Amino acid sequence: MYRTNTCGELRLSDAGKNVTLSGWVQRIRKMGGMSFVDLRDRYGITQLVFNETDNKELCDAANGLGREYCIQVKGVVSERQSKNPKIPTGDIEILARELNVLSPSLTPPFTIEDKTDGGDELRMKYRYLDLRRTPVRSNLELRHRMTILIRNFLDARDFIEVETPILIGSTPEGARDFVVPSRMNPGQFYALPQSPQTLKQLLMVAGFDRYFQIAKCFRDEDLRADRQPEFTQVDCEMSFVDQDDVINIFEDMCRTLFREIRGVELPKLQQMTWHDAMKRYGSDKPDLRFGMEFVELKDAFAGKGTFSVFDEAQYIGGICVPGCADYSRKQLNELTDFVKRPQIGAKGLVFIKYNTDGTVKSSIEKFYSEDVLLDVKQKMGANDGDLVLILSGDNANKTRVQLCSLRLEMGDRLGLRDKNVFKCLWIVDFPLFEWSDEEQRLMATHHPFTMPNPDDIPLLEEHPERVRAKAYDFVCNGIEVGGGSLRIHDTNLQEKMFKILGFTPERAEAQFGFLMNAFKYGAPPHAGLAFGLDRFVSIMAGLDSIRDCIAFPKNNNGRDVMLDAPSALEAGQLEELQLKLDIKTK
Ligand code: AMO
Repeated sequence: MYRTNTCGELRLSDAGKNVTLSGWVQRIRKMGGMSFVDLRDRYGITQLVFNETDNKELCDAANGLGREYCIQVKGVVSERQSKNPKIPTGDIEILARELNVLSPSLTPPFTIEDKTDGGDELRMKYRYLDLRRTPVRSNLELRHRMTILIRNFLDARDFIEVETPILIGSTPEGARDFVVPSRMNPGQFYALPQSPQTLKQLLMVAGFDRYFQIAKCFRDEDLRADRQPEFTQVDCEMSFVDQDDVINIFEDMCRTLFREIRGVELPKLQQMTWHDAMKRYGSDKPDLRFGMEFVELKDAFAGKGTFSVFDEAQYIGGICVPGCADYSRKQLNELTDFVKRPQIGAKGLVFIKYNTDGTVKSSIEKFYSEDVLLDVKQKMGANDGDLVLILSGDNANKTRVQLCSLRLEMGDRLGLRDKNVFKCLWIVDFPLFEWSDEEQRLMATHHPFTMPNPDDIPLLEEHPERVRAKAYDFVCNGIEVGGGSLRIHDTNLQEKMFKILGFTPERAEAQFGFLMNAFKYGAPPHAGLAFGLDRFVSIMAGLDSIRDCIAFPKNNNGRDVMLDAPSALEAGQLEELQLKLDIKTK
């Protein structure tokens, strides 16, 4: 038997018991004739004691151990002289009688402790060692608990978990596909699913009624802190439901998760239209942990001064930053540089300081009278001591998005984005289409199977850009955690959608014929959504990046530095696939 107990479970009440423990050497300390070893496993740390006077040979063996050796120890549980109140096993230690080295270890490249000295890349390369560290392991334990809660919640409501294939066909809408060459069908490729979207809709046609899957998804897109090329969705679909049914059931699921994991009771969540979210926060995923709502100021300035930038702007919007009128010139310059960074792209930043002594100081004071600035104060709801920051531009939504970045930056600076506060909401009434500068055409905001709002169907041909979708996103703390929609189940409407999206009937048939054909066999009205599990876990765990809750993540270049993937193929493999590479691989 390798062990009778784990390293986390022995207490004073176990004193006198003969036990066997197995684990990894965290630390060895030599004090006089005694050697102390901290033995660690997934459950905790237990102190082992080797006494030279009792057994010199055993003590020498203990002194020969190194960090991260995997060992087995037999001994007696006894009360400690100097207790360690910081760990649950801190009242006891094991007086060692026997030591077996199960597996020696090289010196690890970084310390296996909560605060490690290892940099990101090193820890990724030796991820199996990083995973021995409690903070990393506990993120995965949390992830496990969340998936169990989700499965139980959905199972109790008649959802059936169905696995859908990973090798499917390419659906070039949305992100880029990862593709896999087929040896048996030379020159042809599978694509990995960006999501099981079409398959879950087919399951509804098949009458499954309520489906879910903890599904691996693959998207070849640029990576960010909340994006990985390979990620996991809690993917769901339901038949014979409307938008409120879906929202209610999944709001309840989120409520259960927050209650069980964080002890937080979510209120009934507000539903904000996409239009409102853009107008008030410049984002379709507003962070509601703090205020600083946008105020539109075009009217406040129009015809009241000589500032050409404002005169020519389509949109002028401000945020009121409480208590920051004392910002220095240097701090304001920093903020100006911040909004002018290419990622944000504003041309400049206007400030108005409403000082505590009642005076007003502004970068536009030579263009506008104090009365105008006081009128702005009132419109902004500003108090003495507040700082108003204003951006303007010729494209309202673009300027709002810039102002959103500034608002979030101010939220960060003022410590208003507390990771232990959770503000969730639904965003609804998304536009059905959005214009893609890259593709120079309308694209589906969600995906091409999203149902238009029935009230807007008459606008489809003439004004597709004004059509609202029956789509909804679940947003928490400024992060899009989930999203979904009612689906089109009518072949004619689906054909119309493809036409607006610029698909020829032949291309629509080639790519989505399987779905359109299925809809000809009694497709039920259906709807669904998918949560990004990695994002959900990272919010619950208060992480900055979803990487930290993924066992084996990719780095920012999409590489697995531990497996050294992707990598070149052997010539023989390429030949078998009948692939000829004309590029210089690294
Ligand atoms: P969507 O594309 O909005 O919808 O994805 C759903 C959720 O998946 C998460 N997500 C990601 N997480 C990590 N890395 C990524 N690269 C990544 N991309 C998306 C987000 C997002 O909210 N089939 C539809 C859902 C539906 O309509 O039912 C879909 O995939 O949290």
